[in-house]
Amino acid sequence: MINIPKGTKDVLPEQSHLWQFIEDTAREVAASFNLREIRTPVFEHTELFLRGVGETTDVVTKEMYTFEDKGGRSITLKPEGTAGVARSFIENGLQNSALPLKAYYIAPCYRYERPQKGRLREFHQFGIETFGSAQPETDAEVIFAAHTFLQKLGIKGAELEINSIGCKTCRAEYNRALKEYFRPHLKDMCATCNDRFEKNPLRIIDCKEERCKAFTAGAPKILDYLCPDCKQHFKKVQSYLTALNVKFTVNSSIVRGLDYYTRTVFEFVSTQVGTQGTLCGGGRYDGLIEELGGGNVPAIGFAAGLERLLLAGVNAPQAPAPVIYVGGMDEPSRLKAFELVNGLRAQNVAAECDLMGRSVKAQLKYADKIGAEFTAIIGGSELESGACNVKRMRDGQIFQVKLADIYPFVSDNSNR
Ligand code: HAM
Repeated sequence: MINIPKGTKDVLPEQSHLWQFIEDTAREVAASFNLREIRTPVFEHTELFLRGVGETTDVVTKEMYTFEDKGGRSITLKPEGTAGVARSFIENGLQNSALPLKAYYIAPCYRYERPQKGRLREFHQFGIETFGSAQPETDAEVIFAAHTFLQKLGIKGAELEINSIGCKTCRAEYNRALKEYFRPHLKDMCATCNDRFEKNPLRIIDCKEERCKAFTAGAPKILDYLCPDCKQHFKKVQSYLTALNVKFTVNSSIVRGLDYYTRTVFEFVSTQVGTQGTLCGGGRYDGLIEELGGGNVPAIGFAAGLERLLLAGVNAPQAPAPVIYVGGMDEPSRLKAFELVNGLRAQNVAAECDLMGRSVKAQLKYADKIGAEFTAIIGGSELESGACNVKRMRDGQIFQVKLADIYPFVSDNSNR
């Protein structure tokens, strides 16, 4: 037998309604925030992620699914959604459209990570990206979109943590302070951090190695190095969030795992999921469009991992089930049941009949198993009288219904 690749999962028919609930909620929230869908390819030129996500990130150095295609190009399955959307924004001249441009996506992503609960090699993101506004209310709006999404899913115990990691100006000063602080400890830190020290000291703060964590705890805090503009921006974001009654804590150790971020960064962390508790992460990336060859266009967004939302527990409606099962006792009544059921389906009623040649008893057992709201069995006398008994499974109540009136009957009486 051939097994599913490590770190991937099937969504089976019995679970798909949960996914559909999350996706429908995502689209509903997106529509209310005036976000329109954008679809970009599953793979991009590797160069996009090297420049976009950053060469010192774990995602780029360790986790990308990169291969050479038959034309000798280096191709990578997208490890996240932002870089592709930014590429599309530039390539399609969207900076000339009405700004801010607000887009969302629901798409698979690929990271070669060590799989564990809540961490997969193929996972799915709902993400939003807003291009063109540098205003702090945009930061609050994007955070509020994530907050609304989690609320509408019924997720409990998701806590919002925010931080500012400054702009180019304040980051340069902070990097100097970090270098001064880490220099004496470098010999006791991991090789990757030694490399990060030269290329991007901020990344050290995010190191997962225990021996490095011992030093990062006492490192200088970015918030102490923000320039006046970044400080003011961060203050305003907080006051807009407060105005919307969104609870948050400022956590100066959030730096995020991708290099494009500037100023506001944030995460919604679940207390229910365990070590992979970050349900959703995002932030401002004012330099990315320019870095990728576009204009000076500020931007901000977030992405939520759908598998983690499922782990956190969504309050989804029940799995769908047929409104009515119509069974048949013999050949002519089976034919009538078949006609009736397909007539109902043509009018958008979820209906089912026997496709297995089962006995009446087995048909009723099946109708119960699939959760039909009503059942009816047709035989010779029903064909003759043109009416049948319809049983409401919830309470066993029986209704006499003309065969010709089954559609109006279910329309009036179904709760589904
Ligand atoms: P990220 O924090 O790398 O950010 O990923 C966002 C979310 O994707 C995480 O919070 C998590 O829920 C989910 N996720 C990430 N890796 C995995 C994995 N291996 N298995 C399961 N779920 C995972 C980004 O991707 C940014 N592009 C977000 C963004 C959009 N920033 C601005 N705009």
